Amino acid sequence: MANWDPDEPIPEFRGGIWRLNVAKSARGRGVGRFAVAGVAEEARRRGYDRITVLWVPGPDGPEQFYLRCGFRKTGDLLFGEVVGELRL
Ligand SMILES: CC(C)(COP(=O)(O)OP(=O)(O)OC[C@H]1O[C@@H](n2cnc3c(N)ncnc32)[C@H](O)[C@@H]1OP(=O)(O)O)[C@@H](O)C(=O)NCCC(=O)NCCS
Repeated sequence: MANWDPDEPIPEFRGGIWRLNVAKSARGRGVGRFAVAGVAEEARRRGYDRITVLWVPGPDGPEQFYLRCGFRKTGDLLFGEVVGELRL
C-alpha cells in the first residue's frame, strides 16, 4: 500500500510505502523488491524525488530488506519507528 499526499505537513508522510506485507510462503523471491520498485516508479511519475517508509527497529524487523532495496536511514524516529528514504 502506497500513499500520495504532497501537501501533508509531516514530510515523512507525503509519499511512499504505507504497508508492505508479503505472504510467508512467497518471501525471499523478490516480491518485496518488485513492490518497492513499483512504488518508486509511480512516485517518479508523480514528480517525487524521494519515497519514505517507517519500520519497527530490531533484528526481527524489515530493516535489512529496506537497506538492500536502497533505502537509507534518515536518522529520525517517528512514533518510535525508523524513518527510511529512497532517493529517486
Ligand atoms: C520485509 C518483506 C516485505 C520482504 O519481502 P520479500 O519478498 O521477502 O523480499 P525480497 O525477496 O524482495 O528481498 C529483497 C532483498 O532483501 C533481502 N531481505 C529480505 N528480507 C530480509 C531479511 N529479513 N533479512 C535480510 N535480508 C532480507 C533479500 O535477501 C533480498 O536481497 P538481494 O535481492 O539484494 O539479494 C517480507 O519479509 C514481509 O512481508 N515481512 C513481514 C511484514 C513486514 O515486516 N513488512 C514491512 C513493514 S514496514
